[in-house]
Amino acid sequence: MNILVTGGAGYIGSHTCVELLNNNHSVIIADNLSNSKIETIDKIKQITDKDILFYKVDVIDEQAAESIFSSHQIDGVIHFAGFKAVGESVEKPLKYYYNNIVSTIILSRLCIKYNVNKFVFSSSATVYGENKVPFVETMDLLPTTNPYGETKAISERILTDVAKANHSFSVSLLRYFNPVGAHESGLIGESPNGIPNNLMPYITQVAKGKLQKLRVFGNDYDTVDGTGVRDYIHVVDLAEGHVASVERLQEGVHVYNLGTGQGTSVLQLIYAFEKVNNIKIPYEIVGRRPGDIAVSYACVSKAEQELGWKAKRGIKEMCRDAWKFEENL
Ligand code: NAD
Ligand code: UD1
Repeated sequence: MNILVTGGAGYIGSHTCVELLNNNHSVIIADNLSNSKIETIDKIKQITDKDILFYKVDVIDEQAAESIFSSHQIDGVIHFAGFKAVGESVEKPLKYYYNNIVSTIILSRLCIKYNVNKFVFSSSATVYGENKVPFVETMDLLPTTNPYGETKAISERILTDVAKANHSFSVSLLRYFNPVGAHESGLIGESPNGIPNNLMPYITQVAKGKLQKLRVFGNDYDTVDGTGVRDYIHVVDLAEGHVASVERLQEGVHVYNLGTGQGTSVLQLIYAFEKVNNIKIPYEIVGRRPGDIAVSYACVSKAEQELGWKAKRGIKEMCRDAWKFEENL
């Protein structure tokens, strides 16, 4: 298939392009490089030894986006492009609503116009809010605590309605749990701008000596050791989940959790990282982070049954590969 990957220069998008190419699909990337670097395109080519097309395009510029649809035969779109910093979304809600929602509207409109029938969307486990774990795809979505999460819930509803009105338009809504790690080559990975918000990039920067110590947000949750529990998933497993999803997409709207089904606490992740990489991570326990939930992990049976996909890599590989990438920076 010929797949248009929006946000393909970003963290999850770049790993997905690698796996699409490894599975003999062709890739066109549309990315405005607002949160990524042009060098990533060459790294994708280097890893796969295959060529890709890259357009530096803002997908909310409809004319520019349309020029891609009008000049290529596209079989499917994987839509990663969007802003993802939760804290910033609280301070700048319009920036988030505008980019994340308008991009979904424009791309689905162009798909209908150009008869592109497969659409895979990057959603997030954040749409489950404070449901009971494990999170199952059939659960009602609960309000999220920030505009970023709302943009995911709203985009899911928009795509569902578009698919209802256009029967040949098939949609896969992928709810990611906590993507971490990097490609085993160490060439591509996650390099957030500024001080990281998420746990794994914070740990790798402490390991590197860029940051002094990790702050553990709360040890009084009702969990195995009091610290927050999450379902970390290796980004290459996640990328493989996208390949399965676009290849197996059937008519209609399908929602899948992409996680491992296993919860890991903050302290468990720190200790695993220390052991795998033989590096001490200094940390201190501080108060809870506003908006955090205690526990999040997925029920993963639907993706396994319908997509034939299951995460294969464990916490060890996640810690090893995240560090390898940080070391190479
Ligand atoms: P990322 O920031 O690394 O990648 C997003 C890419 O989209 C970047 O390369 C950026 O330059 C590009 N982009 C943003 N707006 C654009 C626009 N209007 N036009 C063209 N390009 C644009 O983020 P990521 O971690 O790879 O996340 C990819 C998607 O997955 C996002 O939609 C994100 O919300 C979602 N998601 C991420 C996580 C996570 O933990 N990383 C979890 C759940 C969902
Ligand atoms: C965050 C986002 C969520 C998003 C998800 C995807 C918030 C409030 N939520 O969730 O919307 O979908 O990323 O990646 O930002 N932790 C520390 N110290 C740190 C950083 C994190 O103790 O410096 C803890 C957190 O309290 C949490 C766990 O580590 O228990 C994981 O945090 P993080 O990586 O930010 O992910 P989420 O909280 O799941």
